[in-house]
Amino acid sequence: MQGRRILLIIAGGIAAYKSLDLIRRLRERGTEVRCVLTTAGARFVTPLAVASLSGSKVFTNLFSLTDEAEMGHIRLSREADLVVVAPATADLMAKLAHGLADDLASTTLLATNQRVLLAPAMNPQMWAHPATERNVARLRADGIAFVGPNPGDMACGEVGLGRMAEPQEILAAIEALLTPAARPLAGVHALVTSGPTIEAIDPVRFIANRSSGKQGHAIATALAAAGAEVTLVRGPVHEPDPADVTVVKVESAEQMLEACRAALPAQVAVCAAAVADWKVAAPFGQKVKKQPGAAPPTLALAENPDILQALSRPGAARPRLVIGFAAETEDVVANARRKLTAKGCDWIVANDVSREQGTFGGVHNTVQLIRADAEPEAWPRMSKAEVAARLVAAIVAQLRGAPAVAA
Ligand SMILES: Cc1cc2nc3c(=O)[nH]c(=O)nc-3n(C[C@H](O)[C@H](O)[C@H](O)COP(=O)(O)O)c2cc1C
Repeated sequence: MQGRRILLIIAGGIAAYKSLDLIRRLRERGTEVRCVLTTAGARFVTPLAVASLSGSKVFTNLFSLTDEAEMGHIRLSREADLVVVAPATADLMAKLAHGLADDLASTTLLATNQRVLLAPAMNPQMWAHPATERNVARLRADGIAFVGPNPGDMACGEVGLGRMAEPQEILAAIEALLTPAARPLAGVHALVTSGPTIEAIDPVRFIANRSSGKQGHAIATALAAAGAEVTLVRGPVHEPDPADVTVVKVESAEQMLEACRAALPAQVAVCAAAVADWKVAAPFGQKVKKQPGAAPPTLALAENPDILQALSRPGAARPRLVIGFAAETEDVVANARRKLTAKGCDWIVANDVSREQGTFGGVHNTVQLIRADAEPEAWPRMSKAEVAARLVAAIVAQLRGAPAVAA
C-alpha cells in the first residue's frame, strides 16, 4: 500500500462520515489519497475535513478553471492506481451503469482507465429495488468491483442489507485489488456453465426452465477476478455477459456439451447451468399449426446428454475439480449426495429452489456445499455474488492443496 495512489469519491450518503476514517487508515499505510466530493457528498462531510485528513486539495467542481488548468479531470481519473467510491449512492451507481457524466465524480468514473471499487450504502429498499439490482448487475459485468453492502441497522431506522462496509473491510478490498496475490488462480483455466438450456419443439417453440444465469455468471465473474482464464458456456439469459471471460452462447443441452468439450482442457469445471433433462425426441421441422377440431400434438421426450457426468468421467481430459449444482425442492442434502455419487463429480453445491426461497431469478441463494469426503457445509443465505466469492475461495484452497495447479 506504501506509495500507492487512491482516488476516493465520496458521494451523498450518511455513511460518508466513515470515509473520513478510511482516508486516515489509508494514509497510515503510506497511501496517497486524493478526494472528489459530489455536491451531495459535501452536504454530509465538509471539504475542509476531507482536505485536512487527506492532506490534499479536494476536488468538487467539473468546471473549475483552476482545477482544469492545474490537472484536469482526465488526469485526475488516470493518475490513481485505483478509484474507490465510498459511499457509492444508488444515484451514482445508476449514472455509472448508464454512462452518464454530468458532474466531476461521474465524469471521472467514466474517464478512468483504472479499476473501480464501489462500497454501496443505501436504504435496504433502495438496494433491493429492481432498478438498483439491474445497475449492480451491469456494473459487475463491466468489471467494477464491489465491497458490501452489509446487513444491519440503518441510520434511517430500518434493518436490512444496505450498510456500507466498514472502513477496515474497504481497506482489505483495496489491498486485495492492489496486490498481485489477489489473483491466486492466474494460469488456471476454468470452465463454467450457466443459465438454462432450451429444447426445440418446432422452429418457434421450445421447452425451457426458470434458470436466470445469475449464479453461474457470478461464479464466472469471481473466477475471472481471481485471475482464472474463464470460458463461460451459457444458455439464453438476460444476464449481461461478464467482462474478461470468453463467452460461448448455446441453446440446447447437446450444444452445451459440445461447447464444454471444445473448451477443455480446464483445471476446474463448475456446472451451474440448469440443463434440460429431456429434449423433444423428434422436433417438428415446421411450425405446428392448430387445426380446428384436431387433438393437440403429443410430444415424446428423449433423454439429453448428462454434461456433469460427461465432464466427471475419469480420463486425461477430466478437470481436476468438477463441481455440479443440484437444484432441489425437497431433501436437499440427501438428493445432492446421491447426485454426487451418480455423476462422479467432486463437489455439489446444493440449493433449495422451492418457490418460497426465491432462488430462481433472485439475487440471493441459500446453499450447502457437499463434498464426497466431508460433512455438508450449510452456508447462510447470502447474495449470489457472495456465494460465488466463497466458492472461489474454496476452489483456491483445494487447488493449492493439489500439486501443479496451473498444469
Ligand atoms: C439525509 C440523507 C441521507 C441519504 N443517504 C443516502 C444513502 O445512504 N445512499 C444513497 O444512495 N442516497 C442517499 N441519499 C440520497 C442522495 O443524497 C441523493 O440521491 C443524491 O442525489 C446523491 O447524489 P450523488 O450521487 O451525486 O452523491 C440521502 C439523502 C439524504 C437527504
